[in-house]
Amino acid sequence: MDTKKIHIKSFGCQMNKLDSSLVTSALKGKGYLITDKAVEADIVLINTCSVRGHAEERVYSHLGHLKHLKKNKTGLIVGVIGCMAQRLGTELLEHEAVDIVAGPAQIAQIPELIRKTLLNKSKSISITEKIRTAKTKELNKELDNFEFTYDSDENHIHNQAFVRVMRGCNKFCSYCIVPLVRGPEVSRSPQAIMEQINKLSDSGVKQVTLLGQTINSYTYTESNKTYRLADLLEMASKIDGIKWIRFITSHPKNFDESILKAMAGLPKVCKYLHVPAQSGSDRILKAMNRGYTADEYLKLIEKAKQIVPNIAIASDFIVGFPDESDKDFQATVKLVKKAKYKNCFVFKYSPRPGTLTDKKLQDNIPEEIKKLRNMELLEVQNQISSEDNKKFLGRIVEVLVEGPSKKPHLNKAENKNNPQLIGRTATDHIVVFNGSESIAGEFAEVMITNTSALTLFGALNS
Ligand code: SAH
Ligand code: SF4
Ligand code: F3S
Repeated sequence: MDTKKIHIKSFGCQMNKLDSSLVTSALKGKGYLITDKAVEADIVLINTCSVRGHAEERVYSHLGHLKHLKKNKTGLIVGVIGCMAQRLGTELLEHEAVDIVAGPAQIAQIPELIRKTLLNKSKSISITEKIRTAKTKELNKELDNFEFTYDSDENHIHNQAFVRVMRGCNKFCSYCIVPLVRGPEVSRSPQAIMEQINKLSDSGVKQVTLLGQTINSYTYTESNKTYRLADLLEMASKIDGIKWIRFITSHPKNFDESILKAMAGLPKVCKYLHVPAQSGSDRILKAMNRGYTADEYLKLIEKAKQIVPNIAIASDFIVGFPDESDKDFQATVKLVKKAKYKNCFVFKYSPRPGTLTDKKLQDNIPEEIKKLRNMELLEVQNQISSEDNKKFLGRIVEVLVEGPSKKPHLNKAENKNNPQLIGRTATDHIVVFNGSESIAGEFAEVMITNTSALTLFGALNS
């Protein structure tokens, strides 16, 4: 049999990107070749996201292209994996272009599903039937072992890796599909996590990002000791080769002070906190089932700034939630002004089938108003970021160099003969500067000479 080529396209969050890296590594281990061109592939996998309608529409439009590609390439196999696969199951399998459907808990089975489909030339599906029922010990063990398939080469950023510390989510925010596609919260054992970080460090990884949908809920009890996120941060800090440790995403509820103390006291832990507020209106927060008020949220932000000097905080917001009035929206604007974030991600509410909000409330805010609120909130944040970034002018910052910048139009950096590179500070500020591509994956010092709302520009400090 000739060597088959596989192309993987990923949508969605870092969890999904990590899943794609694991699947890629596993398939390489089975002898498949990986190609970045769908037209060259014998097998195309799409790792999908269900968080908003738009994310799913993009997948359908992709499947439309693949349907055409299939007409010219008999034998091409298309697999849809990830959250949308879990949500839609057989409905997706019925799509003309689709041969394989596998959910996020079935990633370890993908090589076998591909093998069977190639052999039998028939469609196959593997998803979790009762997603909110706890997984068997065997399945958890299988998933845990699969995390070790990780090959740091699979990373788009040199010398950095994502490490899952927990799966699933139990928060049930009323608008959100994640608990319904990723299942209940399960924390991995600290021993497995540290073993994995140690291995990554041995292979040259310098920065690890710990991943969990609500990472501050991490809890694992073993021999009468309960481990929390702060313990993981402390344990990971002891691993020599690891220089920077990040963690995403935090939920404002049950945010333990020990995490802030660990951030302040452990030099390797990056002073960056992504803690989405979603809204600044208590009425909307209640309808969202977020479990805190705007005041309680702002107190957490204040405490974080107090305990961790120079901390950078980022947030997510949903605008146009059902019944969101102008007054509700202005409360969100007020919260953004008070919180003084480093940056914000703003999303227009998208009804998700099966969620409580979708069952109980009408998506009654017109698209035009959602758009306007989205733009207004981003504009408020942009002004805050532009102003705040000026403090970096004339300063030297340390960055982990990610590689060539994909947005050459950002070219405000000093343009010498070297390509434009992009790096990130420990506080997650994006820095653009000129330098040799060979320093990708290394730490570098950059003197900041120019700033905008989203980017710092400068020159290598040599
Ligand atoms: N677990 C993370 C993020 C989950 S999804 C957390 O709780 O912070 C990422 C972001 O998508 C959320 O923070 C929220 O702002 C947004 N989001 C989730 N469901 C959405 C929906 N139905 N419509 C619009 N945005 C949504
Ligand atoms: Fe979704 Fe809320 Fe869980 Fe985040 S915490 S994944 S927004 S349900
Ligand atoms: Fe999307 Fe699934 Fe992540 S729904 S945001 S890819 S957990």
